[in-house]
Amino acid sequence: MKRILSISLLLAVTVLFVGCGATAQKQQQQPQTVQMIRTVTPERAAGQTDVLELATEALPVVRVGFIGLGMRGPGAVYRMMNIPGVEIVALCDVEQDRVKKVNDRLEKEGRPRAKEFYGDTAVWRQLSALPELDLIYIATPWNTHAMMGVQGMKDGKHVAIEVPAAMNMDEIWDLINTSEQTRKHCMQLENCVYDFFELTSLNMAQQGLFGEVLYGEGAYIHNLEPFWKDYWHDWRLEYNINNFGDLYPTHGLGPVAQAMNIHRGDKMNYLTSTQTKTVAIPEFIKRTQGRDVSKDFRNGDHTVTIIKTEKGKVINIQHNVADPRPYDRMFQLTGTKGFANKYPVEGWALTADSFDANAKVDHEKLDGHSFVNKEMFDKLMKEYRHPIVNDQLLETAKKVGGHGGMDFIMDYRMIYCLQNGLPLDMDVYDLAEWCALIPLTGISIENGSAPVEIPDFTRGGWDKLGKLEFATKK
Ligand SMILES: NC(=O)c1ccc[n+]([C@@H]2O[C@H](COP(=O)([O-])OP(=O)(O)OC[C@H]3O[C@@H](n4cnc5c(N)ncnc54)[C@H](O)[C@@H]3O)[C@@H](O)[C@H]2O)c1
Repeated sequence: MKRILSISLLLAVTVLFVGCGATAQKQQQQPQTVQMIRTVTPERAAGQTDVLELATEALPVVRVGFIGLGMRGPGAVYRMMNIPGVEIVALCDVEQDRVKKVNDRLEKEGRPRAKEFYGDTAVWRQLSALPELDLIYIATPWNTHAMMGVQGMKDGKHVAIEVPAAMNMDEIWDLINTSEQTRKHCMQLENCVYDFFELTSLNMAQQGLFGEVLYGEGAYIHNLEPFWKDYWHDWRLEYNINNFGDLYPTHGLGPVAQAMNIHRGDKMNYLTSTQTKTVAIPEFIKRTQGRDVSKDFRNGDHTVTIIKTEKGKVINIQHNVADPRPYDRMFQLTGTKGFANKYPVEGWALTADSFDANAKVDHEKLDGHSFVNKEMFDKLMKEYRHPIVNDQLLETAKKVGGHGGMDFIMDYRMIYCLQNGLPLDMDVYDLAEWCALIPLTGISIENGSAPVEIPDFTRGGWDKLGKLEFATKK
């Protein structure tokens, strides 16, 4: 990556140098051009094809192995216990007590105990090699995700990886190439696209209620001060000390990218990013650990990134895990006929003519300049509930939970598609696009917010599918 970046910078410097050679008068008249920074898109190997709409052999019973049983992993095991046709075959964590605790719970619920793997950071390879596994579910620290995913696919398994699934361009391309070569699913476990407001808004967008969606916002704004100490060996704090850019972009970008049909008729062309100076976390570390990291800390308190798409849309993505703001994923869609907004209060604003004449909602109370009232909101929520969420799924999701139910819908949908041999809701290109913000925002920030190209990770297929569709059994 460094090599790629320095070549691009050399180009940029050359442009500036040529500019300096011109007369002073000319310089005053002509603003200097900013060079678009590009990273390398590796060529697809001969015979290798894309995995758009990848459908694999139906697996009536899905046998799952879990790696990583810290704060996040055990919840995934419990959710899977509530999905018919799932066998929990193996559990892995470095820490023995974490594996035992989850296995005890399985036994308590009347399930067979799973195979156990623990003891060191490489033991997961034994789980990955198990012939009786169909799916590996990964919830470990970020720097282990891509390596585990790549190996899992090479070992013949589908892989589901927690967010962010990849941290740099090499990891992203490795996951894409391995999925394309092995024809295995590689899904990022982006749960926020399944929250009820986002799913309903997606359905409304797809049915045209917002007209053309031109602008979207998303964010991860979550003060992690109360949680830093709980991560295994401080891995998350250390990552924030040593890296900059938007380090956690997928919750914010996922729902907006879906509403804009990214790589299903549109594509993100480039981004530009900036960050504030760093204050809050170094102060927190000084206060709680007595360590002075203020000079070394790389991640700014607040990062703002603007993305431009091929079809002229704009996306604004933000990141702040440092300052004392209420939790906020922003999620906002601005369309030519309507508007969706999730935080701090969920609401939609619609123009009357955006409704279908046959729609069963009350046209009288619409006002293009304010949010629909509570009664209308409830009506829309019901009327436009996404078709993947039937009554039974809604009830089970609310009962089993996981961030209010969205985590359960995510796991349920993945298993449903695997059981029926259907394409998954999110493919490896979604993973790539959403994670690419991490390295690419870093490059932009390092270069004075210069525009950085977002590669077409489908390598030519971004326009093949007309729109996003969640597959269902015919
Ligand atoms: N989607 C969401 O809403 C959401 C919420 C929380 C966390 N996450 C993601 O889940 C992942 C895990 O986060 P967490 O909060 O559980 O962190 P954590 O520190 O609590 O847990 C990580 C676990 O991984 C284990 N581990 C570390 N290296 C390992 C290795 N090489 N092999 C096996 N096990 C290993 C650790 O022992 C620990 O138990 C992260 O990617 C995080 O971003 C997602």
